[in-house]
Amino acid sequence: MSGEKTSAAVRWRSVKVLYLLTLFFMALTGFGQMPIYNRYYMSDIPGLGWLADFYITRNIHYIGAVILLGLVFYVAFDFILSKRRQAQLSASGWVRAALLTAVIFSGALIVVKNLPYVHFSDGFVIALDLFHLAGVMAFLAANCVCLIAQKKWTAAA
Ligand code: HEM
Repeated sequence: MSGEKTSAAVRWRSVKVLYLLTLFFMALTGFGQMPIYNRYYMSDIPGLGWLADFYITRNIHYIGAVILLGLVFYVAFDFILSKRRQAQLSASGWVRAALLTAVIFSGALIVVKNLPYVHFSDGFVIALDLFHLAGVMAFLAANCVCLIAQKKWTAAA
């Protein structure tokens, strides 16, 4: 393999590992907002007490969102600018991209809602929360199905 190909493969593997780690921490800290960890005594496990602290889990969720957005833009631009001729999104890729977009948009709107000078109606805030949660569950379920069925994001063009 030439040097250029090797470094592209290493870069791609790093992006994948970072993406999986980010998804893991987003899910872990997102469910911490509900809250479930102290209700089900998981935060009593030595070393996991921080899971019951909303400020810590929310700040990690925010940092994860920044990393996730960076990765999404990196992969999207890489795909559009250099891979579009060799590959296209598969059907399962479209479904996951749509669900991830819904999660990111609803998450970004909740961030706006959390700003001190922004006021959304109670009904809208509840709908937004439920939409984010439903989007997250559907996205994670779709990823599990694709993992089991070995479906890829892209197919040869
Ligand atoms: C795949 C990635 C993500 C997962 C698995 C995830 C998961 C979750 C879950 C389960 C909740 C709790 C929902 C509820 O209480 O009903 C939540 C809340 C939240 N998420 Fe996400 N989320 C993700 C991406 C994002 C992104 C990209 C953003 C921002 C752009 C974001 C911002 C938020 C905010 C602000 C909250 C509410 C925190 C609060 O109550 O202040 N999330 N997330």
